[in-house]
Amino acid sequence: MAAIPSSPLHPLAIVVVVVAAMLILLPSASLAGDADLLQDICVADLTSTVKVNGFACKATVTSDDFYFRGLAVAGNTSVTPYGSVVTAANVVQVPGLNTLGVSLSRIDYTPGGVNPPHTHPRATEMIFVLQGTLDVGFVTAAGNRLVAKTLAAGDVFVFPRGLVHFQRNAGDAPAAVVAAFNSQLPGTQSLAAAVFAAEPEVPDAVLTKAFQVGTKEVEKIKSRLAPKKS
Ligand SMILES: *[C@@H]1O[C@H](CO)[C@@H](O)[C@H](O)[C@H]1NC(C)=O
Repeated sequence: MAAIPSSPLHPLAIVVVVVAAMLILLPSASLAGDADLLQDICVADLTSTVKVNGFACKATVTSDDFYFRGLAVAGNTSVTPYGSVVTAANVVQVPGLNTLGVSLSRIDYTPGGVNPPHTHPRATEMIFVLQGTLDVGFVTAAGNRLVAKTLAAGDVFVFPRGLVHFQRNAGDAPAAVVAAFNSQLPGTQSLAAAVFAAEPEVPDAVLTKAFQVGTKEVEKIKSRLAPKKS
């Protein structure tokens, strides 16, 4: 039997390389969410014209800067065509969240209501089902694999940062979730709206190739999703 050739690297050298690699990778891992804060509080001055990574800090702060009651009641699902509505509690509604790297939303769904496929460029999302039954899922970037699950009240599910995901109320009663994010302002990019309702428009020639359909189909979707002009 042939002897297994011994490693050309001294074991200690391997340890040194592994530790060096970890030291290089660790700081980038800690930057996966919002940036670390450099003071106790930095309540957002939403009216400031100063451009920083986040919002400038207000000089005078009250307890109401850290308070919001907007998630207490269900949102009005009639204001969207999808049968779902997101009520946000991020730095815009709660200025005290500035630099703290977290936020919440409440999402309400009519029976059959859908929160259409979208991504959050700056946050992982974790939902907690308050009531109802939901079909949820996300699609991996590597291989477009759908990771899906049916949820009931009390269940928790995670949508990893940046990945396309959706929820649908699979029951015959209203459903609701609370969603937590590791960003003060996760950002939402809805896939259909981003490509079919952008202003100025994404050219038809791009969309007919991308979706492998004709101009007529592209124009039809664009007209359905066009931002309402009043
Ligand atoms: C919900 O929104 C619809 C459409 O904008 C509106 O007609 C209706 O009055 C709203 N309902 C409530 C309870 O605010």
